[in-house]
Amino acid sequence: MDALPLTGRMALVTGGSGDIGSGVARALASAGADVAITYLGHSQGADATLQAIEACGRRGLLVQLDQRDPASIDACVEKLTREVGRLDILVNNAAWNIGIPFADLDRLDAHTWDRVLETNLRGPFLLARGFAPLLKASGAGHIVNIASTGGIAPASSSIAYSASKAGLIHLTRCLAVAMAPEVAVNCIAPGLVKGTRMANRLPDAVARMAQQQAVLGRAGQIDDIAGQVLAFVTSTSISGQVMAIDGGLPLAMR
Ligand SMILES: NC(=O)c1ccc[n+]([C@@H]2O[C@H](COP(=O)([O-])OP(=O)(O)OC[C@H]3O[C@@H](n4cnc5c(N)ncnc54)[C@H](OP(=O)(O)O)[C@@H]3O)[C@@H](O)[C@H]2O)c1
Repeated sequence: MDALPLTGRMALVTGGSGDIGSGVARALASAGADVAITYLGHSQGADATLQAIEACGRRGLLVQLDQRDPASIDACVEKLTREVGRLDILVNNAAWNIGIPFADLDRLDAHTWDRVLETNLRGPFLLARGFAPLLKASGAGHIVNIASTGGIAPASSSIAYSASKAGLIHLTRCLAVAMAPEVAVNCIAPGLVKGTRMANRLPDAVARMAQQQAVLGRAGQIDDIAGQVLAFVTSTSISGQVMAIDGGLPLAMR
């Protein structure tokens, strides 16, 4: 029997307790990788993902992480280094959003701004920095950042979220330069992903509009995102790229 494409690789998926993180972690395990996942508060979701990883016959590991807290990121790096000693794939998937209409400038206070930016932008940077030695030593290091079409076009749950994801897209390009040639760094920008808790937190009108505007008439699915993560981490010649998965939103076609 042929070996699976990621046999022998170790992956870390942040936000593995969430909808997309769980799908990505399961796909990586199905492709042969051992997979560590992080969660913040949803331990039940994390346990379910862990069980799915182990059901694929792979090693799974749970790490509680608050990526707003640099000390928590250091502890995550230390735990993985001590207990596994290698990392080939980092998927920066965890994020936080809140629905604040763009025009409601006064509601977007400094505390909310900081929470969104610390979680969605500073966290992925500190994780990439912390795991850089292991990723560079891998021989086939990959980072995949999960951004949003809100980081390409000015439309999303809030200005802070859009700005954080625009930052993550550019961070992808900066890290692709900084971590070359050992590590490839790419990005996925989903539009609204149907059936996820994050999408369900958006007003119905926003969700309807995203679907209506997509040229394919459908939103992206979790499986599409998981499949693109696999495509990036099995490639040897793609870095610094952003793939929108949104059913073809004209505003996000750049
Ligand atoms: N769903 C969509 O329609 C959509 C569209 C565009 C982009 N995205 C992006 O796709 C990614 C996954 O989204 P999703 O739909 O799967 O969201 P989700 O189900 O809400 O999951 C978010 C994950 O992030 C974790 N998290 C939140 N704050 C954290 C913090 N401070 N430190 C560490 N972890 C934290 C959560 O942990 P706990 O649950 O354990 O607390 C959870 O695992 C995100 O980057 C999101 O921005 C999603």
